Amino acid sequence: MNEPFETGARVVILTGAGISAESGIRTFRASDGLWEDHRIEDVATPFAWMRDPELVWGFYQGRRRQLLEVVPNPAHEALVELEKFLGDNFLLITQNVDDLHSRAGSKNLIHMHGELQKLRCEQCGEVVVAMDEEHLTDDYVACTACGDERLRPHIVWFHEMPLHMREIDQAVADCDVFIAIGTSGHVYPAAGLLGIAQACGAHCIGINLDPPENVALFDEFHQGKAGELLPNLVNVWIGVEEE
Ligand code: OAD
Repeated sequence: MNEPFETGARVVILTGAGISAESGIRTFRASDGLWEDHRIEDVATPFAWMRDPELVWGFYQGRRRQLLEVVPNPAHEALVELEKFLGDNFLLITQNVDDLHSRAGSKNLIHMHGELQKLRCEQCGEVVVAMDEEHLTDDYVACTACGDERLRPHIVWFHEMPLHMREIDQAVADCDVFIAIGTSGHVYPAAGLLGIAQACGAHCIGINLDPPENVALFDEFHQGKAGELLPNLVNVWIGVEEE
């Protein structure tokens, strides 16, 4: 296709770690198979949190501090331009727990795997944004609502249910164009959204450095770095320039 979107087209975007790679945040399944020198199962499961909360907390505090050092890249910015053009017909679903989409200016945004900026109380359910200096040390943060001594990262770990799935499934089933950017297609249910979009008749576009696991389901696949490809693609989609 690679032509301007039709007027009124409903567009759903799914992003993964690849879109933040050019901002300096390492992806999960990088070639060494480690995430910032840890096995995912050692730091990203509820069992890891029960077994070794100090390791998990220290790991996420490191990821949270890293947010202060990174900035959105041209791929995040291109999606902001797309949203300005599409208005309410634009929905961005991200698997990323960083805040680079919102810092770039994306508005209609769902964080299906949680957010690094936030902490949650397992006792009372309170969710707080806690990014000031005192909350970024390796000390645990207590819940101000119920007094529990240890908030957890507001992150969806393996074996936990992603957030807002009903809204996500509905939007994907109803969209006219589905675009997946920077995601390996390994982790479900996110990886299954492409199949839903395809089955419901959406035009499916993929943008990724390597062909992802589910590449055969795309109608259109653009191989390369999101920060390099996406600004031009968005210009074509919104009718600013021919490819
Ligand atoms: P992955 O690390 O599995 O995949 C990142 C994908 O981005 C790979 O296919 C890379 O080829 C691609 N990539 C790397 N650099 C890129 C670039 N500059 N431009 C475009 N693509 C690039 O990350 P996700 O698919 O996001 O879950 O992983 C899904 C989930 O698994 C994550 O949300 C996380 C993880 O465990 C939780 O934390 C629950």
